[in-house]
Amino acid sequence: SCRAVIFDLDGVLTDTAIYHFYAWKALADKLGIAFDEHDNEQLKGVDRLGSLRWILQKGGVSLSSADESRLMQQKNAHYLQLIDHITPDNLYPGVQPLFTALRQSGIKIGLASASKNAAFVVERLGIAAQFDYIADANKVINSKPDPEVFLLAAKGLGVAPPHCIGVEDAQAGIEAINRAGMKAIAIGDAAVLNGALKIYPDVAAITLTDLLNV
Ligand code: G6P
Ligand code: MG
Repeated sequence: SCRAVIFDLDGVLTDTAIYHFYAWKALADKLGIAFDEHDNEQLKGVDRLGSLRWILQKGGVSLSSADESRLMQQKNAHYLQLIDHITPDNLYPGVQPLFTALRQSGIKIGLASASKNAAFVVERLGIAAQFDYIADANKVINSKPDPEVFLLAAKGLGVAPPHCIGVEDAQAGIEAINRAGMKAIAIGDAAVLNGALKIYPDVAAITLTDLLNV
């Protein structure tokens, strides 16, 4: 039975994915490396260093770790500037009703994000207090598809993995949920996402009954 639902953040609860894309694109342009929205699909769920290295590799560039740190800092400063206007209006439709239904059913709500900005974003979305536990990139060593961030969330919630459902929009995230021994629900396109028990176009399409029957 389902005792907790653990959500990814970027692309599941809000569309910050587009701002990550803009900031990476600006950096890639500066480095003279071609980078488009299709490339960006590969970076969903991938942490900051992993994303930078993916772009550098595409351009056939390898840098010192000092240079990598400098570029990551630049990208993040730009990203923070781009998301500076985020308010509760940026919460995807359907999120609040689903959270309310879960709370009323006694099902715990967790977050498992690969972003170091997760706490800031959920604060600005006005939903921070609704999570029973937040696991993010600041608290783990291994990035998705490693299950670490989902396992940490389950531990923080005090719920065994088989009683947890994970909700993800990234292939790396679905893999992480499965490797954690949880049930995976995907948000997005069935043509590109594999390994989930169910797939929905967006969070608004998920009902509490669906989750109880997974
Ligand atoms: C999430 C997003 C990625 C992003 C990563 C790291 O997984 O899907 O696009 O690169 O978090 O985010 P951060 O805010 O730590 O740079
Ligand atoms: Mg995501």
